Amino acid sequence: MAEQTKKRIEHLRSEIRRHDYLYYVLNQPKISDRKYDKLFAELKQLEQQNIQLITPDSPTQRVSGRPLEGFGNVRHGLPMLSIDNTYNADELKAFDERVERLLGSSNYDYVVELKIDGLAISLLYENGSFVRAATRGDGQIGDDVTTNVRTIRAVPLVLIKDGKVPGVLEVRGEVYMPIRAFTKLNRMRSKTGEPAFANPRNAAAGSLKLLDARITATRNLSFYAYAAGEVSEAIASNHWQLLQIFKRLGLPVNPNIKKAGNIDEVINICSDWDRKRADLDYHIDGMVVKVNRLDQRDTLGATGRAPRWCISYKFAAERESTVIESIDVQVGKSGILTPVANLKPVQLAGTTVKRASLHNFDELYRLDAREGDTVLVEKAGEIIPQVVEVKKTSRPAGSKPFGLPKKCPVCGEKIRKDESGVYIRCINPKCPAQLKERLKYFAGRGQMDIEHLGESLIEQLVDTGLLRSFADIYKLQQEQLSALDRMAQKSAANVTEAIEKSKGQPLWRLIAAFGIRHIGGQSAQILAEHFGSLEALINTNVETLANIEQIGPVMAESVYEYFHEPKNLAIIKQLLASGVNPQLPTKKRPGKLAGKSAVVTGGLENFSRQQAEQAIRQAGGKVSSGVSKKTDFVVVGEKPGSKLDKAKKFGVKIINEKQFFELLGDF
Ligand code: IVH
Repeated sequence: MAEQTKKRIEHLRSEIRRHDYLYYVLNQPKISDRKYDKLFAELKQLEQQNIQLITPDSPTQRVSGRPLEGFGNVRHGLPMLSIDNTYNADELKAFDERVERLLGSSNYDYVVELKIDGLAISLLYENGSFVRAATRGDGQIGDDVTTNVRTIRAVPLVLIKDGKVPGVLEVRGEVYMPIRAFTKLNRMRSKTGEPAFANPRNAAAGSLKLLDARITATRNLSFYAYAAGEVSEAIASNHWQLLQIFKRLGLPVNPNIKKAGNIDEVINICSDWDRKRADLDYHIDGMVVKVNRLDQRDTLGATGRAPRWCISYKFAAERESTVIESIDVQVGKSGILTPVANLKPVQLAGTTVKRASLHNFDELYRLDAREGDTVLVEKAGEIIPQVVEVKKTSRPAGSKPFGLPKKCPVCGEKIRKDESGVYIRCINPKCPAQLKERLKYFAGRGQMDIEHLGESLIEQLVDTGLLRSFADIYKLQQEQLSALDRMAQKSAANVTEAIEKSKGQPLWRLIAAFGIRHIGGQSAQILAEHFGSLEALINTNVETLANIEQIGPVMAESVYEYFHEPKNLAIIKQLLASGVNPQLPTKKRPGKLAGKSAVVTGGLENFSRQQAEQAIRQAGGKVSSGVSKKTDFVVVGEKPGSKLDKAKKFGVKIINEKQFFELLGDF
């Protein structure tokens, strides 16, 4: 029986790997997602019943359950170089002339690849097993992102061993976020009030730098291999061959790679993709042109920065000209007025663009954008289109500069420039536009997470006067809801049920939901942990707040102000009276370094400065930037400088990296 289970487990694993290969490498899936999920579920169940049979390379073991405390460093065996850029056909020809001159022959060919806009990654395979992944970093030293990269299903955990697999194989390639995943992620983030990622590259980079791989796993990252780093034995004599071998080993290689016999063919391929790139499900910012033969690459060598056998051809950012039909002013949750251009619809990088944010009034006047103007909109790496230029010569006669609003466009009340001098705010706390945004934020996923209380329902409830503050949410009656347009009995019940459920959300969610300026989810968590109750937070003072690690003076001031505004306190009182009873954080054991203040100076071998400081904080200690009499100890690495002198002067305890390790104990 046990033997049979083992066999079944092995069979399921190899089936799942085969289907991953068919999907990611051959682009020819043979089963539906549902069938795949079924195989996966069966494997998971069998493994759960037989945990002794779980192996780290099982497809079920991609996501680790524990968040990391930081990223280690990896020194690249071979530096990860960058590539020089060209921007037009003439520059490509000049590159080709140099290649020909340096090789002293015209007997060479090229491989032309898409330059995917993600981030470079190095994957290390030992005897066919994935053991480590590192970012490029500064080219010499990168971050160890193994735990996060394991979650990327396009990265095989074991290579296919039907041919020869080198003992050590470092594969380099690009981790990227497909556009569909990017759009979905940003839509979600805007719902939860988190800032949107500007482009898929930032989103991919941000996702690889998360300490919790469970979140990375939800980000739908993907991967294409495009080069070898260190290998224990040569596996190919040219690049084309290498890519074919990669595929055989089960590594995904972009299907759009082409060979080119000469530079004119290269130029044709590049200009083809400049047109076709809008159809791809991922962003490319150019093409990469590589000399094919590896011996010729050796002859060409590299400058300090980039190899001489490789060049990138960068596409011009996509720009289109269109007309501003009108300019709207939107009011956000904190009352900020944002001018938005409504455009005559225009096709740009594969999507129809109808609106572009003008960011703020300074920017609007810098551009001098006016209604009726012909403008250039650009979508460079950025997904959100920008107005980059106003064609003043095409300006219609009699056009007038856009008038600075004198009052809030929604409530008609007073507006004011804020301290930064850039933003204009509506200062009416009852402004319905602000109220709507604040309520949407309160109920949003990252805050109180009230399911079914969506954006349009909130707007309807504000318009009908049923919602005037957060507190009103908890006074809503099912009958009031079902009396609304388009609201069935059942949906009304769903809403009230979700509202009821949210009463017991963790304290940090409630703090975040208030939408206090400068306080997002993370700082709300810090505040909740630190004070343990809403009451303690309300009754604190600015100094106590400002002394909390990671809460700066600006945040401290903002929190203090919020809880000293009588209107806010009245609403909080009502919330509590309606039964909002947040779950309080459990008390943490004080860390080993609780109450201790430390300084880190000089270069450490096993930690980056940031990691060392994070380790101190995690153990409950405080990190300061300068040494004083109050400092408890100084961690000293290579080339420590004046901080060491100061520590000696004040008689502060000095420890080296080894002692630091011991101090942290089981770190
Ligand atoms: S080859 C020395 N091939 O472009 C050459 N790079 O600016 C090593 N990239 O950091 C890189 N697609 O992240 C190569 N097909 C491709 C690529 C590619 C995207 C990125 C890579 C690198 C950057 C260079």
